[in-house]
Amino acid sequence: MKHLSYQQLADLDKARIWHPFTQMKSWENEEILIIERGRGNYLIDVNGRRYLDGVSSLWATVHGHRKKEIDRAIREQLTRIAHSTFLGLSHPGAIILSDMLLEIVPNRLKRVFYSDSGATAVEIAIKIALQYWFNRGRSRRNIFVSLNNAYHGDTIGSVSVGGIGVFHATYKPLLFKTVKAPSPYCYRCELGLAYPSCKLACVRKIDDILAHHEGRVAALILEPMIQAAGGFITSPPGYLKAAATIAKRHDVLLILDEVATGFGRTGKMFACEHEQVQPDIMAVAKGISGGYLPLAATFTTKQIYDAFLGEYAEKKTFYHGHTYTANPLAVAAGIASLRLFKQEKILYRLQPKIRLLSRGLQRIADLEHVGQVRRIGMMTGIELVKDKHTKKPFPFEHRTGARVCAEVRKHGIILRPLDDVIVLMPPLSITEHEIAQLLAAVEQAIRTVTEA
Ligand SMILES: Cc1ncc(COP(=O)(O)O)c(C=O)c1O
Repeated sequence: MKHLSYQQLADLDKARIWHPFTQMKSWENEEILIIERGRGNYLIDVNGRRYLDGVSSLWATVHGHRKKEIDRAIREQLTRIAHSTFLGLSHPGAIILSDMLLEIVPNRLKRVFYSDSGATAVEIAIKIALQYWFNRGRSRRNIFVSLNNAYHGDTIGSVSVGGIGVFHATYKPLLFKTVKAPSPYCYRCELGLAYPSCKLACVRKIDDILAHHEGRVAALILEPMIQAAGGFITSPPGYLKAAATIAKRHDVLLILDEVATGFGRTGKMFACEHEQVQPDIMAVAKGISGGYLPLAATFTTKQIYDAFLGEYAEKKTFYHGHTYTANPLAVAAGIASLRLFKQEKILYRLQPKIRLLSRGLQRIADLEHVGQVRRIGMMTGIELVKDKHTKKPFPFEHRTGARVCAEVRKHGIILRPLDDVIVLMPPLSITEHEIAQLLAAVEQAIRTVTEA
């Protein structure tokens, strides 16, 4: 590759590229970071500076960067083939990975449909749910129920079931209609109630909605245990279980979006295990390939799969697919990553790190401008507020969260906030020493920015 200086690269980037979720006017005026390499839990920029990857390269990296077992698996796969289509053909890697995945997902799930991102995995879940009812001659069941503050990806179907105004409102004319239930956001309860005296009134709203639209709802879609992009909103104990029970009672399919939570992030392999919930359909992506390459999967029960079987002329086929479905390189990374979970006893070894994180966060929770710290497993959201007592937020345009993350960067740590929620979601491979470093830097940065 032609060697370009930092300045040449930065100038070219700013002249040519449009970055995701980025106000490019600010970007063009900032000193941008250009990552060239990675090693373990660190990212290294073109100037050789090292940064702890505090958000797992957007919630993807599981075992760290340049993990030798995953690197080797991809290289070995390259000696065979980089890509062949999954439409009408198969390949050994995908067959092996499917077997490994179906061993670890909730055991009602018996089939896997591959794609390449979280949004596509959700899009597929939605289409499968709709067509399941259609194929069974019950096409009146075509309403989707989702939550305020939900985020399921950026394609139109996924946006339709999303519920974050600033991301989604503009596209309203393009979206299909959904019915929204309250977000289980206890800190700012939509119903003006307090947990636990509310007795999970927000989940009872789901019951009301399903009763109101009895026989018309295809599926309820949820992010289990934590609404991630909505602000790391952890749901109160019992919420997921109750929602699943209600869906079942109304004969409504339960779709769980484990794109952010899957593969150990919450301390268990999948977040739904915390409340022993078994979905009808489940979407995963991000960590499935160890965070190496684009890969996603949508799982269904046998009952759903069976509804798509029929004679060719019956047109029950699931007419959906993507060019890079089950790409062999991504699949090789996925197999290597799942082997590491077993060989390195990742989930077992994670527990003391989670305890350390939990203890360390107590100091941060006490800070004057920290409204609430929400955490499940290794996923932490720190909500900053102007006034701790009234919960009044900082003005949106102050970009307080972004300024805290810029301050953290001076300590050699990369974070990306969700407005004024500081997100900590390091790779599962983070060490106890690095957790301590991360917490100390975050505490100091919050103080510097909010107490100035
Ligand atoms: C819960 C959830 N679903 C879906 C997505 C979309 O995933 P992707 O960005 O891979 O399309 C995300 C991404 O953050 C997510 O957190």
